[in-house]
Amino acid sequence: MTLTVTGSINIDHVIRLPQFPRPGETLTGSDYRIVPGGKGANQAVAAARAGADTRLVACVGEDAMAKTLLDGFAADGININAIDTVAGVNTGVALIQVNDAGENTIALAAGANAELTPARLEHHASALYCKQLLLQLEIPLETNLAAARAAREQGAQVILNPAPARALPAELLALVDLITPNETEAERLTGIAVSDESGADAAAKVLHASGIATVIITLGARGVWLSEQGQGRRIPGFSVQAVDTTAAGDTFNGALVAALQQGMALEPAVRFAQGAAAISVTRPGAQTSVPWKAEIEALLEQA
Ligand code: RIB
Repeated sequence: MTLTVTGSINIDHVIRLPQFPRPGETLTGSDYRIVPGGKGANQAVAAARAGADTRLVACVGEDAMAKTLLDGFAADGININAIDTVAGVNTGVALIQVNDAGENTIALAAGANAELTPARLEHHASALYCKQLLLQLEIPLETNLAAARAAREQGAQVILNPAPARALPAELLALVDLITPNETEAERLTGIAVSDESGADAAAKVLHASGIATVIITLGARGVWLSEQGQGRRIPGFSVQAVDTTAAGDTFNGALVAALQQGMALEPAVRFAQGAAAISVTRPGAQTSVPWKAEIEALLEQA
């Protein structure tokens, strides 16, 4: 049984700058690149490279770049049968600025990602017969709801990476088995500031109360807060020199789900995912930064 990722595909236009421009300011950057991105696609690529049997349900536009993206997914071993090419729209676009600290700002144009409607999802109902369903928030919310409902009915585990940050209906949270917010997203969902371990613990408890059994709050350089049924602990991460943090969260999510699919227990799966994310921040770009399983295992062996 496979992992199904239902989510976005973007073309990332990336430019490096010493610092982010202020409103009204023009700055000259360097190292402009066009790279494959989108949270759904990045997570599918991370899962596949980490060894998961992976399918991506998504939409692209009718532009020249879409074919290159699909070829890339296929080369990574991802099942692309449920990726629709939609006439009259562009593939999703992300304009990304990366500063000297490796941080980013991202502006999105949804394009074809907005066309992944519940009606379109129905044409790919068989893709929701899966072991795990992995969702993010760059496609219409109703589609995530429909996907989560259908996958739950078939007995799949539903994993939600609630990014980008937004408030979510209780109905969706109640369908989720495992949620993976970062600090900002956790605060948006719970109203609790996650600035230390007690904040993470309190936010996790609110998410448990919404019906979610397992909560993993990513804490950046401090690692993650792993909370199962109300019992939480911090798992420290790896210390690396970040050049670009774009898609670090996506890499974490894809690798985590891949490890779980391959039978790893939760805590080692979190370590595996942390290793994958640590490697990704040492490389530029989104899918260009995602490591393969052997690289992650080599890092874990050294640690
Ligand atoms: O999480 C990183 C991704 O966010 C980028 O690849 C960009 O496309 C945006 O979706």
